Amino acid sequence: MINRTITDRDGVKRYLITLNVNGDARTVLVKGNAILANVLRDDFNLTGTKKGCELGDCGSCTVLLDGTPVDSCMVLAVDADGHDITTIEGVAVNSKLDDIQQAMINYAGIQCGYCSPGMVLSAKALLTRNPHPTEPEVREAISGNLCRCTGYVHIVEAVLAASQGKLVPGEHEYPREEGGSI
Ligand code: FES
Ligand code: FES
Repeated sequence: MINRTITDRDGVKRYLITLNVNGDARTVLVKGNAILANVLRDDFNLTGTKKGCELGDCGSCTVLLDGTPVDSCMVLAVDADGHDITTIEGVAVNSKLDDIQQAMINYAGIQCGYCSPGMVLSAKALLTRNPHPTEPEVREAISGNLCRCTGYVHIVEAVLAASQGKLVPGEHEYPREEGGSI
């Protein structure tokens, strides 16, 4: 629910909205066409949310909106008013990385890292609703997140490892085949 609207001297209407970001209620004044990704990055300095295509194609701007992954470049900030937003900054708890983050590091699921915040959040949403996914389910869950570097094999392996609590690569059971499925 929009708290209040203000019209400035130039006749531009702005909306006072409150977003529950990573557990903190944060109020901000935005234009009606303000994009959630920009508000997170520019107003809240949560720059872990990356912008790539800004067209809803690459998934680098993925955040969780009430637990569901969304492309934050395609969401108007006013439409997120009153909702829960989780960004990558809200995934670690008390400076301890989430298992998915740790597995992404341990299983070399990160190279340049640009896709990683969105990838982790899509995987996080998957493991929340389905703690023990199959490989096809992992691939489906991250299908909206493009990665130019890894070829996905190690990312999928990391998510499966996290789902099984096998954060140390030596414990994994998945055959590594270059460029192939695992
Ligand atoms: S930047 Fe949002 S989907 Fe690419
Ligand atoms: S690690 Fe570079 S785009 Fe995925």
